[in-house]
Amino acid sequence: MTAEKKEVLLSVRDLQVVFGERKNRFVAVNGVSFDIYRGETFGLVGESGSGKTTIGRAIIRVNPVTKGEVLYKGERISGKISGELDKKITREIQMIFQDPMASLNERAKVDYIISEGLYNIGHFSQEERKRRVEQALLDVGLLPEFASRFPHEFSGGQRQRIGIARSLIMEPEFIIADEPISALDVSIRAQVLNLLAELQRKRGLTYLFIAHDLSVMRFITDRIAVIHKGVIVELAETELLFRHPLHPYTQALLSAIPQPDPISERKKVLKVYDPSCHHYEEDPPFWEEVEPGHFVLGNHQEMEGYRAAVAQD
Ligand SMILES: Nc1ncnc2c1ncn2[C@@H]1O[C@H](COP(=O)(O)OP(=O)(O)OP(=O)(O)O)[C@@H](O)[C@H]1O
Ligand SMILES: [Mg+2]
Repeated sequence: MTAEKKEVLLSVRDLQVVFGERKNRFVAVNGVSFDIYRGETFGLVGESGSGKTTIGRAIIRVNPVTKGEVLYKGERISGKISGELDKKITREIQMIFQDPMASLNERAKVDYIISEGLYNIGHFSQEERKRRVEQALLDVGLLPEFASRFPHEFSGGQRQRIGIARSLIMEPEFIIADEPISALDVSIRAQVLNLLAELQRKRGLTYLFIAHDLSVMRFITDRIAVIHKGVIVELAETELLFRHPLHPYTQALLSAIPQPDPISERKKVLKVYDPSCHHYEEDPPFWEEVEPGHFVLGNHQEMEGYRAAVAQD
């Protein structure tokens, strides 16, 4: 993507999501901000429980936003919005869920599962609905006949394709793909990734791609944000992040990626992230751009080290 053509499609600003009340109050996401450009694949990576799905669900208005806001095409879509805008984003923003074994309604036929969203956006004749279901199945590489079957008749990979067809039928512009391949067999992961990439090319889709490790991210994302315990600690273009991982948590995630070469894999030192390495009591952390497009969270002392590391190269 060329720099001059960048148009911000989605903005998350100072987002906070809190679950529970009083003693059970739990801040799942705090002060999260990022922009996603039209046509890009923006990666969000962090360990289990770091708040990735919570952010996705806040964007599609399932989770409450306790602070901050979400803008889509420059318009606020969090909090109270008009019915008309709600309908528009229900169609244009789709989410593909983490676990295809759990996310499909077992008692409904594929036909219903795929076309369910259409009922929310307008009236379609039976023929039109059927035609769209068949087209969506074809678009994800499944047979139109599958429409009359139930989810349990399908493999994990096929079920994820059904999940993708279910979002495509809405003709979305922005798709949140929440760990779409984590639950799949290794052998079919590449197929699903290729399908997503092809759909992006053909339809100019924008993706928020969520994953808990960095291994596939390098090949599919344009930029990556790294999240730890509900807070973004680093954000950069993918190549920059892999070249100069600065935050110790990013470095730990990177060290966990398996190396193809068995010798270097054996010699590799796994880095463990220990948050007590930060001394934030007197010198609290702030968010800073240390090289163009590369942001990191750190205090003054850390920032000096980060700048030096970037300048060395
Ligand atoms: N509806 C909810 N009520 C209470 N707590 C919640 C709710 N949804 C999520 N949480 C908590 O918020 C935190 C973040 O959860 P989230 O599902 O966003 O993590 P995640 O990064 O998607 O993890 P994973 O990689 O395992 O999918 C977790 O501690 C989770 O238990
Ligand atoms: Mg999740």
